[in-house]
Amino acid sequence: MRYFASSPAKCIMFGEHAVVYDEPAIVMAVGLRAKVGVSPRDDSLVKISSRDLGASAMFDLSSGKAVSGDQASVEKLFPAYRAVEETAKALGKSRGAEVVIESEIPPAAGLGSSAAVAVSTIAAYARMLGEELPPERVSNIAYEAEKVVHGTPSGVDNTISSIGGFIAFRRSEGWLRIESKADFELVVGDTKIERSTKELVAKVRSLRESFPDVINPIIHAIGHISIEAAKALREGDIESVGRLMDVNHGALWALGVSHEALDRLVYAAKKAGALGAKLTGAGGGGCMIALCRPGTAEAVARAIREAGGWPMVAKPSPQGVVSWEEV
Ligand code: PMV
Repeated sequence: MRYFASSPAKCIMFGEHAVVYDEPAIVMAVGLRAKVGVSPRDDSLVKISSRDLGASAMFDLSSGKAVSGDQASVEKLFPAYRAVEETAKALGKSRGAEVVIESEIPPAAGLGSSAAVAVSTIAAYARMLGEELPPERVSNIAYEAEKVVHGTPSGVDNTISSIGGFIAFRRSEGWLRIESKADFELVVGDTKIERSTKELVAKVRSLRESFPDVINPIIHAIGHISIEAAKALREGDIESVGRLMDVNHGALWALGVSHEALDRLVYAAKKAGALGAKLTGAGGGGCMIALCRPGTAEAVARAIREAGGWPMVAKPSPQGVVSWEEV
């Protein structure tokens, strides 16, 4: 028997960076998924492999250590191992396993690939141990697993990947589901430029420290953009969602976290008919998103490709983590 789970990528639609200062953000699950298959072993070893990452490594649940695999593989796969370990701890039982990761989510691009892999690993491994966990429980375990790897994550990645759909997220208040009536397609454009979230967050912090009276109002305005966007999503008013995305991109540009390549893709998408476009996640490279009326995403994707980006058409995913088993 093999046990599987799959969970979606995240996309911050509004409010990145401002969310660090306790402003609300709007986050959406997109239909790019990370799938994990787990089968039991008769020892305490956890063998993890991912073809997409070109990595394979073995860890021992009894020592918590890697027992085989090159260093790069061990580093890449350790977060998935942590997810197994944390699940075993939460359920008070464990067993060795073969874990195979197959992810459509580009890594390190601001789309929450590591959280989605953790969420799927937890749900599949728990199922192998005979437990079908509710999404909130999976999310909590994923948060604990990510904390060890990433320090202090805001919790937004594991939440959206577990529960799916749209949420409004505020650090001090947690999340609230947004019932969106909006009918749209989203094109994600990857610049393939690597960036460090930590450095970009530090860059905004330093700008804010130098010019608090200038930067604080921008951060606060971004919070208002999220509030207006939540309203527009509930009402299905995609024109307003698009206009607010443009304003949000401008504000992020002002905070110094855009990049020439991101701006190029944003302009190309707008020119090809996108209702709005902005960078998503930390910026400085990584991905942008373009909001499209149904049926227009292909043209926008083409324009993004012609402007040097790697486009993916991504529909909103109402479905969070799902698990199943196969003989
Ligand atoms: O790089 P990403 O997609 O994980 O986005 C980071 C989003 C920030 O708001 C910049 C940081 C954060 O912790 O919320």
